[in-house]
Amino acid sequence: MIRSAITGVGSALPKRVVPNTELEAKLETSDAWIRQRTGITQRYIAGDDETSASLGEAAARAALDDAGRTPDDIDLIIVATSTPDNTFPATAVNIQNRLGMHHGAAFDIQAVCTGFIYALTTADTYIRAGLARRVLVIGAETFSRILDWTDRRTAVLFGDGAGAVVVEEAAGVGLTSDTGILAAHLRSDGRHKDKLYVDGGPSTTGTTGHLRMEGREVFKHAVGMITDVIEQSFATAGISGDQIDWFVPHQANRRIIEASAKKLGIPEDKVVITVDRHGNTSAASVPLALSVAVADGRIKRGDLVLLEAMGGGFTWGALLVRW
Ligand code: ACO
Repeated sequence: MIRSAITGVGSALPKRVVPNTELEAKLETSDAWIRQRTGITQRYIAGDDETSASLGEAAARAALDDAGRTPDDIDLIIVATSTPDNTFPATAVNIQNRLGMHHGAAFDIQAVCTGFIYALTTADTYIRAGLARRVLVIGAETFSRILDWTDRRTAVLFGDGAGAVVVEEAAGVGLTSDTGILAAHLRSDGRHKDKLYVDGGPSTTGTTGHLRMEGREVFKHAVGMITDVIEQSFATAGISGDQIDWFVPHQANRRIIEASAKKLGIPEDKVVITVDRHGNTSAASVPLALSVAVADGRIKRGDLVLLEAMGGGFTWGALLVRW
């Protein structure tokens, strides 16, 4: 059986760190409120010279280095983003050009915070179908550009950044056939489209718009949806929560992460948490968290790693990976 393995991971963050205390001065909020409700202490915010494509390019270069690959080795780039540099062309094509890559194909995927899970599942499908050999999968976001900076209910939650992975056929790089993506499940339900959305777009207002969210409604659905799709992945791979070495969830809110882990029977010390430092970076959050846990030596070859995300739409999904 062909399996897709993750052979390199990289990330990039904007230069500017914005601690909660800096937001206290601009919004009617407090460091204590933000920490207690979300677990966030700081986030990174892109400067004028930083965009989703520039952060995505930096993350991609780091992932390629980690995999011992160059852009010449890649035949497909998939970028998950809701904050593209332009309405078109795709940010993936922009990054392809920045990497000096003029062969292969590149396209974007839009599934908001679940974008990276959708993109990685798509890469796996291309590889298993024999349509691509090596795929660069990137989650890159500059949510600071679509926030309403007068709305304390949303402005404190998000940050900017990018993460990337190189995916290739496991057997082609000498990895055993049980290494790689073991299960992937994607879901969406458009009945919830007005609970978390951007109130503009090229085809409606002709503007970019701002993020709007019914936070309580999102919270109410999050844990059930996340654990449901993870349990489907467990069933596909024939495993249970106690076999997971590392749980790398979407980093939206510490309370959602902890409640999901508890429901799945995954102990706290196996959960990778970066929301405290990064805030919610939407499609970049899972690869950013992955890159932190790989770089600090927690995630190692052979580990069973569970990835999950949930976001606007709603969209949600989970991936089980033998590292
Ligand atoms: N600072 C201080 N007070 C605030 C702030 C703030 N930043 N934001 C809201 N409040 C106030 C509200 O105005 C409200 O005041 P009121 O009672 O006087 O009306 C009070 O705090 C409680 O507001 P709630 O919205 O009910 O607070 P809640 O406990 O639900 O926490 C939060 C809000 C953190 C947004 C929570 O609902 C949540 O985490 N929801 C999930 C959001 C999420 O994870 N979204 C992303 C997932 S999908 C994706 O990643 C795109």
